[in-house]
Amino acid sequence: MCGIIAYSGHRPSVPVIVEGLKRLEYRGYDSAGLAFALSGQIHLYRASGKLEVLEEKLASETIIHATSGIGHTRWATHGLPNEQNAHPHLDPTRKLALVHNGIIENFQKLREKLIKQGHEFQSETDTEVLVHLIARGLQKTSSFPEAISWALSQVEGSYAFALICKDHPGKIWAARQSSPLLLGVGTGENFVASDIPAFLQYTKEVVFLEDGELVEMDASSWQVYSIKTLKPVTKKVQHIAWDVQAAQKGGFKHFMLKEIFEQPRVIRDCLAGRLDRKDERVLLAELDDLPVPGRLHIVACGTSYHAGLWAKYLFEKWAHIPVEVEIASEFRYRHLILNPDELVLAISQSGETADTLAGIRLARGKGIKVVGLCNVVGSTVARESDRVIYTQAGPEISVASTKAMCSQLVLLYLLTLYWGQRQRVLPHDVLSRSIHGFSSLPDILETELPRLREKAASLSQEYARARSFFFLGRGINYPLAMEGALKLKEISYIHAEGYAAGEMKHGPIALIEPAFPTFALALNDELLPKVKSNLKEVEARGGKIIALTHPRTDLKVTHPWEIPLLWGPLNSFMVLPALQLFAYEMAVYLGKDVDQPRNLAKSVTVE
Ligand code: G6P
Repeated sequence: MCGIIAYSGHRPSVPVIVEGLKRLEYRGYDSAGLAFALSGQIHLYRASGKLEVLEEKLASETIIHATSGIGHTRWATHGLPNEQNAHPHLDPTRKLALVHNGIIENFQKLREKLIKQGHEFQSETDTEVLVHLIARGLQKTSSFPEAISWALSQVEGSYAFALICKDHPGKIWAARQSSPLLLGVGTGENFVASDIPAFLQYTKEVVFLEDGELVEMDASSWQVYSIKTLKPVTKKVQHIAWDVQAAQKGGFKHFMLKEIFEQPRVIRDCLAGRLDRKDERVLLAELDDLPVPGRLHIVACGTSYHAGLWAKYLFEKWAHIPVEVEIASEFRYRHLILNPDELVLAISQSGETADTLAGIRLARGKGIKVVGLCNVVGSTVARESDRVIYTQAGPEISVASTKAMCSQLVLLYLLTLYWGQRQRVLPHDVLSRSIHGFSSLPDILETELPRLREKAASLSQEYARARSFFFLGRGINYPLAMEGALKLKEISYIHAEGYAAGEMKHGPIALIEPAFPTFALALNDELLPKVKSNLKEVEARGGKIIALTHPRTDLKVTHPWEIPLLWGPLNSFMVLPALQLFAYEMAVYLGKDVDQPRNLAKSVTVE
């Protein structure tokens, strides 16, 4: 969703804000803007399109002396992505400027009321209503926290915002409700942002704001208040271990490519401290005091949902736990029948996805325990779950999720072993083969990744003109096929569907003809003979086939793509990057914007 940054300090603020917006651009990129207070007025710069358009505008300005300000990169919810709707938005007297992420759900009603009171609006956004309301509040009181609290008491929906005033240069007010917002605490400078990478190069000291909190800050001080009571809230400053390098491209052409190539490191980090090799035990101390669930409900969106579908096969087979996997936006509106011995496992890379969070709140409201599996320390999923397991992927910047899924698969695999052990149902050879296999996996993958990329690049020349693709798999490879299709459509805009190979004959096969290729996952496992028959059916209709397969499977398809054979589900860790690299090379060949595909956002904090 939208990205927010606010700065107050000793540096020229415009470059700091623009730099911060660059690091937040993955959250939305259909327009951008910034504002600062200087010489008794608000200076406002906005542009539709990517951040570089705003940068061009700023380049023609003479030196700007501001040392504070607010910036925004937008993912449109209300109103077209044009300059008029770009943030920041101003109040009618141009005294205040505000940037906002979220949706004010009752904005239409509030807007009509304000229009009756004589307000005129310049945009179609819900955000402008918010800044007008705060301005009205300031007619009643000169205290900003009081005026903000008064305005917010009328607002329904979600928000994270930052506000400045022309009469108080250097001061920033910010608040959150159901949208992420955090404070970066520096020396002689402070930041507010939607996400850590925005200020990571300046400080690693972070304060996570909770829903219902408001912060007032300037260059040298900050104080958090409860929005409702305006009582000061004591907050803890936390140190974030992410390094700045990890949030940069490091020689790769795209973040996505860099993140795919980071997967061996991610696997190592996810395993660190989790395997007791001597006693052959999996360590997940976070869950030791929770009973093994009688049934597991996995709730997630997008790629994280596919990770959940993949894990279902493992949990059922090796931990004997029945599993339901639910798309969070459906889970939250079902009439759920949950029993006290059941558990919700919420998977979210960002830890901020609105639907997943709603699922967590729903389950907890029904007295069901929630375990969060997420990648961002201190994120809302982490804070609102009863227990949290952190994946160790590091910051993921490319909108298409890659290494985060890899990290989720590792942790889900370990969780299966852990619960399987506690249930005393895990076959011993599974544990020792898994531990052994995981030890060599990162090195094998490291060697293999360049080869996978080469093959993906050569296939992209052959297949980039296709309009549609099927991705087929069976068993544990079916969710991976779904993920392969999602990756391809996300970044290359080629229509793709992930299907259970055995289901093709019940309708989809009607689409097969020479121009409609199939990408099959035909690995050397117990389901291979079945997959082979399904591929024969495709071939018989003239369909071209790329098949990711193992040596000696004797597969006769248009383009076999052999990968090294690993043990059991560890093969998924080779299949996943192959699929990711195929989508990547297709998108590169077609000249698409790999890291910032159209219409998407990294972190979806609205319904
Ligand atoms: C967005 C992203 C996807 C991601 C999904 C869920 O749609 O573009 O890449 O898989 O959100 O995100 P989460 O952070 O909850 O895993």
